[in-house]
Amino acid sequence: MIYLDHHATTPIAPEALEAMLPLFGEYFANAGSTTHAAGRQVAAMVNDAVAKMAGLLGADPEEIVITSGATESNNLAVLGTCLHSRQKRRKIVSLVSEHQALLGPLQRLQKGGFQIELLQPQGRHDSVPGMIDLERLSTAIDEDTALVSVMLANNEIGVVQPLAEIAKLCRQYGALLHTDAAQAVGRIPVHVDDLDVDLLSFSAHKFYGPKGIGGLYVRRRERRVRLQSQIVGGGQQHNLRSGTLNSPAIVGMARALEVCSSNLEEDALRITGLRDRLFQSLARSLDMLRLNGPRLEDSGCRLPGNLNCCFYPVEGQSLMLAVPELAASSGSACTSAEPAPSHVLQAIGLSEDEARSSLRFGIGRFNTQSEIDQVATWLVDATEQLRALL
Ligand SMILES: Cc1ncc(COP(=O)(O)O)c(C=O)c1O
Repeated sequence: MIYLDHHATTPIAPEALEAMLPLFGEYFANAGSTTHAAGRQVAAMVNDAVAKMAGLLGADPEEIVITSGATESNNLAVLGTCLHSRQKRRKIVSLVSEHQALLGPLQRLQKGGFQIELLQPQGRHDSVPGMIDLERLSTAIDEDTALVSVMLANNEIGVVQPLAEIAKLCRQYGALLHTDAAQAVGRIPVHVDDLDVDLLSFSAHKFYGPKGIGGLYVRRRERRVRLQSQIVGGGQQHNLRSGTLNSPAIVGMARALEVCSSNLEEDALRITGLRDRLFQSLARSLDMLRLNGPRLEDSGCRLPGNLNCCFYPVEGQSLMLAVPELAASSGSACTSAEPAPSHVLQAIGLSEDEARSSLRFGIGRFNTQSEIDQVATWLVDATEQLRALL
């Protein structure tokens, strides 16, 4: 099998696995059991891991809340800020092309009487398909806006949003800014002050860490964000998220992020090269192939390993069945159980049929050039065979 689905999840880095193992054995104690040395030892390991991650993101350790992943972080960010007792504003602005893990909590708030405004991103014929239109944002945002939430990098078309520009508008109106950075952390530079965000979600399994662990950055410096906790109980993590800390996963997550950060530039260059090679090989042989999302030359606007192509009139699902040795995606992992065509592709102007004829490839750290060449050959052959049947 050749794995090109790194937006759905990544394999665990050997360094992260190695760092976790002692916490399943000798260092098994509860990090909250600070009445004994065994607990204090684990607490020190967890604190060290959180401090490392915070440092890599440009945050203070007290600004990190550990969660089960980006879905929970998004829920805590959106529901936590809007349902806080001191929150008087009633409007939230976001994009139609956000992940379901963000749209879900927004829908819940809408049922509770909040006004949700979802903006259309730039279309396929605009300069950067999928990118936020800052003029539309400046019209939507106002003094009643509690929160603006825009993902840093899209999980389907890889478009990277201009968060620092968005932040300027938020400051003007006193709105908080959240970003779902699940696809960005570990792949492109992410620094909370450079982005000027108030809240930032991340998830370890997207950057070669374990599954079921992630975090939410919550700004305390300069402007303190007030959050209502969504999981209550034993009062862990300053009462913001109760529950025994998953110490092995936290240590693994921090190690995985360290490995990503120390190889960020080289990995991005190599992976971009593989991504471009795959597209060129496909485009050379398939005359009707179309790229979805930002142009590959606009490298700052697109995640290094992201490729999304339309094989119309051949259906993505049919292609996947015809190439069973390939792991790619014809929808985002979290929604691919439902047959609906991608809402992100439709948001940039693709028809339902075109969206159904598209495949997403996510190239990662362990992929090789020969794998890319093999995938291109498989896909060209399968597309030609399927086209001949139409
Ligand atoms: C942009 C984005 N947000 C949120 C999620 C959900 O993350 P998790 O699996 O950590 O809950 C994903 C995963 O598919 C994602 O790509």
